[in-house]
Amino acid sequence: MTEPIPPAPPPPDPASSIWRNWISLAGAIVAIGGLFSFLLLCALDLMGRGASNPYLGILTYVVAPAFLILGLVLVLGGAWLQRRHRRRRPDAPRPHLAIDLSRPRDRRMLFWFTLGTMTFLLVSALGSYQTFVYTESNQFCGEVCHAVMGPEYAAYHRSAHAKVACVECHVGSGASWYLKAKVNGTHQLLDVITGKFDRPIAVPVKSMRPARDTCEQCHWPEKYSGSIERSFTRYLSDPKNTPYTVRLLINVGGGSAEHGPVGGIHWHMNVSNKVEYFASDAQRQVIPWIRVTAADGTATVYRTADFKGEPDPAQVRRMDCIDCHNRPAHRYASPNDAIDEAMDLGRVDLKLPGIKRAAVDLMTKAYATQAEGEASIGRALAVRYGTAPAAVASIAAVQAAYAANFFPEMKADWSKFPDNIGHLDSAGCFRCHDSKHSVGGLGRRMPASDCNSCHTILAQGQSADLAKAAPAGIVFKHPSSDIDGLGLLCSDCHNGKNQEN
Ligand code: HEC
Ligand code: HEC
Ligand code: HEC
Ligand code: HEC
Ligand code: HEC
Ligand code: HEC
Repeated sequence: MTEPIPPAPPPPDPASSIWRNWISLAGAIVAIGGLFSFLLLCALDLMGRGASNPYLGILTYVVAPAFLILGLVLVLGGAWLQRRHRRRRPDAPRPHLAIDLSRPRDRRMLFWFTLGTMTFLLVSALGSYQTFVYTESNQFCGEVCHAVMGPEYAAYHRSAHAKVACVECHVGSGASWYLKAKVNGTHQLLDVITGKFDRPIAVPVKSMRPARDTCEQCHWPEKYSGSIERSFTRYLSDPKNTPYTVRLLINVGGGSAEHGPVGGIHWHMNVSNKVEYFASDAQRQVIPWIRVTAADGTATVYRTADFKGEPDPAQVRRMDCIDCHNRPAHRYASPNDAIDEAMDLGRVDLKLPGIKRAAVDLMTKAYATQAEGEASIGRALAVRYGTAPAAVASIAAVQAAYAANFFPEMKADWSKFPDNIGHLDSAGCFRCHDSKHSVGGLGRRMPASDCNSCHTILAQGQSADLAKAAPAGIVFKHPSSDIDGLGLLCSDCHNGKNQEN
């Protein structure tokens, strides 16, 4: 838009308003744009689109109003400059913003002005809509806050849920959770900007929606899963990296009588049973008190002998999917798991003597940054195994396993975020199913505490032993020392390293 030059400079008009100047006019357009975006975002919000996007709140209540305010500041600033200008040079010609539609030039000006304004409004509307869509994306969740959520984002890409949007589990739909997430989202973004966030990030279970509104949107809780067979191939820490495999038939079962026998691991999901528990730590690893309420209302309380009294009702949580599947999208492997997996996939050469032990040892050390960890691991292994191609490839695989699972900058790894499925590296199922919980602390023990109640061990050991599977299950033979009668949980020794010494 070019500045209109009046055909003949009009005489200074003392009554001409100081608001009539180009800066104020531009400010007014910016302000209208801001207001327009605000109304548009509010409409999106009311239509429920914001339910899945916690950052819509920031756009609506922070960014759009910021433009509105900027516009108003320009309006005022323009007027102020104009007034100063007039004080200093009272005789100077004043911009004349009179529009006279009988003049072709004014009509042309008005046409371009209107077109310009419309374009601006359209662009600001599109811009705010695009920004809204962007904040809803996984890229925004994982990458904008890269340093903060980098670990979760990296682990997510390897998970079965890599195609499920972050917001599907973290926000879900529904008005009150939407508000909660919005408040959280705004708060988190401010924390990121100011660098004031926890390392590691606290688990969000309290502010997460109940699984029935998130997981159960895709997974049908009534589904009868039967038994699932899984093989766990491990490698011992001897010079030969001896493999040791355990084949399990995991009794997942189901929780709905209409769709199969009720029982097995998914029994906890039986709609008519209610399992509640109290955890004495934020990570929910120590559970001294459990209450089961059956369909007829009878309640049974299991507790550890040293837990006296009743827990605070506000701290009691009803068990759902994420009490077992707590790392469905962000699982960090322990050093032992990560190296076993790399060996199993052939990425780390089994012929390198003692590589299992050496790699796990290096991965358990503390490093200041991930880059430093990778570099130190690489150097130490190169000194030991040289530069033959097999060694080089194996070393790179160990470094990659480290980088995928250890995030020292955010203090995120398997030990900070234990996986509750199983019981090897952390207590997991044994948080409740150890033999320490009983009715009243001394009566009837928690069921499902022996080795063949959750799974049947079909076979174990090496090639020859593995070939003969026992459908009825066999007694677990611990590969190293005898662990029977020690009264220890697996996780008391299996601290991610599993080594004798
Ligand atoms: C399949 C569901 C699911 C998806 C998809 C998902 N998360 Fe999570 N996320 C969870 C659960 C469940 C927890 C709580 C973990 C716990 O209690 O131990 C969690 C925890 C977190 C935490 C807290 C720190 C931690 O590791 O416990 C962050 C941060 C996080 N998720 C970010 C993300 C980001 C970013 C994405 C997308 C790239 C994402 N999540 C996708 C289920 C999911
Ligand atoms: C938007 C849909 C969606 C949501 C929400 C969702 N999942 Fe999934 N889930 C999937 C898909 C898709 C798969 C992959 C199935 C496959 O590959 O066979 C899957 C796989 C799984 C598996 C089996 C694979 C594995 O990791 O061992 C588990 C367990 C699981 N989901 C649990 C959960 C839990 C717990 C939640 C809630 C925190 C959840 N899911 C939320 C879609 C979803
Ligand atoms: C007294 C300590 C201790 C206890 C308790 C213990 N383990 Fe182990 N476990 C070890 C040691 C040491 C090794 C040897 C690791 C090696 O040589 O690499 C090992 C190795 C294993 C291995 C094979 C290789 C590996 O590194 O994973 C499996 C599988 C295993 N243990 C399972 C279990 C299970 C299941 C339990 C609980 C029922 C358990 N362990 C309890 C100390 C223990
Ligand atoms: C008591 C712990 C526990 C609870 C609670 C639980 N699960 Fe599972 N679930 C398991 C175990 C253990 C497996 C076996 C797979 C494994 O070991 O990784 C499994 C397997 C699965 C699978 C893969 C099997 C299949 O049928 O494809 C899915 C999907 C799944 N669970 C979803 C859910 C959902 C959804 C919920 C909540 C409604 C839920 N689980 C609640 C422990 C649990
Ligand atoms: C918060 C405590 C808690 C956790 C954690 C927990 N359970 Fe349970 N589990 C229970 C309670 C309570 C019962 C039922 C006790 C009763 O029947 O009185 C039960 C029962 C069972 C049963 C027997 C079901 C039947 O057929 O009657 C199996 C199998 C089982 N759990 C497996 C698991 C597995 C596997 C895990 C880990 C993935 C696990 N549980 C984690 C509390 C828990
Ligand atoms: C409360 C149920 C429950 C009980 C009781 C139980 N387990 Fe398990 N166990 C599981 C589940 C669930 C997994 C699968 C973990 C996974 O999917 O990663 C598992 C996995 C295992 C594995 C494979 C571990 C690995 O990662 O290499 C071994 C070995 C094992 N159990 C041995 C035992 C022994 C020995 C006992 C008796 C002391 C026992 N279990 C008792 C639920 C149970």
